Amino acid sequence: MTRRSTMPEMVGGVTPRREASSPAVTPGSSRTRKRTRSWAVVRPISAHARKRRGSNRLTVSPKSRIAASTALSDAGGDCTGRLECRSSVRRELYHRRRLASSPAGAGILGVMALDLDPGTAALGNPRLIAAIVAEMDGGAIPFQRFMELALYHPEHGYYRKRGRIGRQGDFLTSPVIHPMFGWAVAGWCREAWERLGRPSPFTIFEPGAGEGHLARAVLDWAEGRDPAFAAAIRYIALEPNSPGDDPRVSWQTPPAAPAEAGVVVANELFDAFPVRLFEATPRGPAEVYVRWDGEQFVEERGPIATIDDAPAEGRFEVNPAAYPAMASLCGLVERGAVLVFDYGYPQEELWAPWRTQGTLLCFYRHTAHENPYIHVGEQDLTAHVNLSELLAAIDDAGMQAWGPVSQREFLYSLGLPGLVEAARGDLQEYFTRRRALEQLTDGAGLGRIRVIAGTRGIEGAPPGFEPLP
Ligand SMILES: C[S@@+](CC[C@H](N)C(=O)[O-])C[C@H]1O[C@@H](n2cnc3c(N)ncnc32)[C@H](O)[C@@H]1O
Repeated sequence: MTRRSTMPEMVGGVTPRREASSPAVTPGSSRTRKRTRSWAVVRPISAHARKRRGSNRLTVSPKSRIAASTALSDAGGDCTGRLECRSSVRRELYHRRRLASSPAGAGILGVMALDLDPGTAALGNPRLIAAIVAEMDGGAIPFQRFMELALYHPEHGYYRKRGRIGRQGDFLTSPVIHPMFGWAVAGWCREAWERLGRPSPFTIFEPGAGEGHLARAVLDWAEGRDPAFAAAIRYIALEPNSPGDDPRVSWQTPPAAPAEAGVVVANELFDAFPVRLFEATPRGPAEVYVRWDGEQFVEERGPIATIDDAPAEGRFEVNPAAYPAMASLCGLVERGAVLVFDYGYPQEELWAPWRTQGTLLCFYRHTAHENPYIHVGEQDLTAHVNLSELLAAIDDAGMQAWGPVSQREFLYSLGLPGLVEAARGDLQEYFTRRRALEQLTDGAGLGRIRVIAGTRGIEGAPPGFEPLP
């Protein structure tokens, strides 16, 4: 499963909008910041979800009922709660314990029932959970910190382990579908190299390179197609977690030293950054905090923040590292380009009034769901990117910004279908490529990824961003 195949399709077309600056997020006053009352954050249930569940009543676990009603009255009394995800684990543990301790249960289970309660292992990696709980120290931490620990804890974070992406992992990305994606990127880089006057060295930086699927395809294409281009390339993968081992690649941990000429390519980097999570309240957006209640992670409301153009209803995310990271990537090449593929929308679409549930999603063994508090350290967490912020960062860095266009449009305009036709002589490869093209350009999956670019010292629109005739 690709990371976004279950997201609702956007309404309307893509309207690139350039924001002068990223939205300001002002933390609440110290009075509100200190407040960590242990109420559960209530989350409105959509009409669709209510219908599906056949009920519009508040569904809470017995222990949470008082807390939830407090939260309800605080939120204005017109919300329905959404705590069943968290309480389902507790319910399961409760039933298991009852079954094991009752005479009937003992009869069902055999001679003597043991207490098989797995404790925190039922919620994910127990060592990671212990580390997060220790950091909480009896209090609450912002959701952003929880997500950071879940994905990037130095020892137990999700991305510290290899094999997360791919058919044996939890989700698929474009470079692992087929090398064709990397061949298209290589062709794009070669065009930039030509327009820059064939400089050598020509540095390709790839932040968030993962295990190196894209790097391998780009370098193979260059070697197979144009030895002069291959000889000029210096490929630098900036990957702080479980990097790959292709010897042609220089594996580095960010930050990197800038290059005179080159391209920066990032695929699904920004949507892997930890996000701040907010819930709209009548008093403004409240930051979502997370604490440990002795058995599971639960949410509570933190301080109220001031956020420009924040949605008035529901949940939404803010990605504080996106703008600075984009700015520093633009600084990596004096002359050249940045090329970014990511799930995202311009801000007005990302925070559209109808999108009341935000975009945070979890991926576990190719299944998407919305509960970040299970499979902790064993599932991916991701949120859509604010493309207006990224384009503003490109602009502010003195580059010419291009896009967004969809990955589908981009790959078609680069001529990817030609690579399918070229394999007609080998039926097996032909069908493999045809299937890969479908996946890479699927309007309900990877084809919805948005592509943006920035150029400096390159004449004209780069391939894939030419104005329509
Ligand atoms: C969703 S994965 C994408 C991997 C790869 N680009 C692909 O398409 O298969 C996100 C990657 O970004 C890396 N990452 C996260 N934060 C990063 C940062 N600040 N700098 C560089 N890489 C980062 C993660 O370790 C992970 O490998």
